[in-house]
Amino acid sequence: MKKVNVAIVGATGAVGTKILEKLLERDFPVQSIKLLASKRSAGTEITAGGHNYIVEETVPESFDGIDIAFFSAGGSISEKFAHEAVKRGAVVIDNTSAFRMTEQIPLVVPEVNADALNGHAGIISNPNCSTIQMVTALQPIREKLGLNRIIVSTYQAVSGAGSEAIDELENQSNQFTKRSEIKAEILPSASAERHYPIAFNAIPQIDSFDSSGYTLEELKMMNETKKIFGDPELSVSATCVRLPVVTGHSESVYIEVGQDGVTVKELHDLLTNAPGVVVQDDPSKQLYPMPLFAEGKDEVFVGRIRKDPEHPAGFHLWIVSDNLLKGAALNSVQIAETLLT
Ligand code: A2P
Repeated sequence: MKKVNVAIVGATGAVGTKILEKLLERDFPVQSIKLLASKRSAGTEITAGGHNYIVEETVPESFDGIDIAFFSAGGSISEKFAHEAVKRGAVVIDNTSAFRMTEQIPLVVPEVNADALNGHAGIISNPNCSTIQMVTALQPIREKLGLNRIIVSTYQAVSGAGSEAIDELENQSNQFTKRSEIKAEILPSASAERHYPIAFNAIPQIDSFDSSGYTLEELKMMNETKKIFGDPELSVSATCVRLPVVTGHSESVYIEVGQDGVTVKELHDLLTNAPGVVVQDDPSKQLYPMPLFAEGKDEVFVGRIRKDPEHPAGFHLWIVSDNLLKGAALNSVQIAETLLT
């Protein structure tokens, strides 16, 4: 496989760090790796895989000679630099929501719609973390049985909001145990008017509200799922909640498949044979997925598979995955691997 020059924008962040880890761990064919961040981090040394890397400030010239640029520094940085990177010859794999719903830009989960990469024009979007794990698990079901409806409630980890949110959970947990004042400055989102403690709490707001009453995170799940599945008629609705979990998103997913009379065993069999999916489902052994045990793992874990007693095509599933890996860094690296094969 041809070796490529890679850049990671946001290399000091929660996802950027994992992209570097995954590139090294998976023996991605790199010629060189350039770590980019803001001016604040320029000169910072990062050691990984026995190499020392010096972080550089992101400027337009950073992308000269780069073949693949991973972006994970927030939507405004992608908007500022992604087209510039493409102009200078790079393919951009963007982890932000900046271009996800742009019609000509592919939104890709390789297990689901690798074909969408054909004919890309330089920018490829990596979907929202909660969406990736859900569509990865639902794809084998949809392919075989059809899918008419999804109702999802998420239980999302703070690392999805970046490293400052992880720090906030840790600080608030210390403040709580010391009975001192709890300071909330980051969640539900840094730009929000009000901030609430996440420690020992559940916040039913991820990102800001749309005039419809849904949050942008919920709308991302609804719109991105339809785009990835290529099915604008699919009925999808979401409620997204932040929990005091560091890493690993969980989702309670209700689906209506395309035919009546399907059994739980059929779903088990489909999921057991699906790429990137692990079934953990045995109530007699209290076996079900949990974020604490999904952290650091590449797979999407599925359990609690039950038939809806009130609907002939309805099922409930519990889907858990590491939001920084399959939900972000791993999926991005898999997109790059697919491009190179
Ligand atoms: P920096 O560490 O220099 O602020 P997270 O998602 O964990 O919050 O990380 C955000 C990432 O985005 C960090 O790597 C951060 O770098 C990077 N970033 C923030 N602002 C900029 C910017 N203006 N240019 C490039 N990278 C940025």
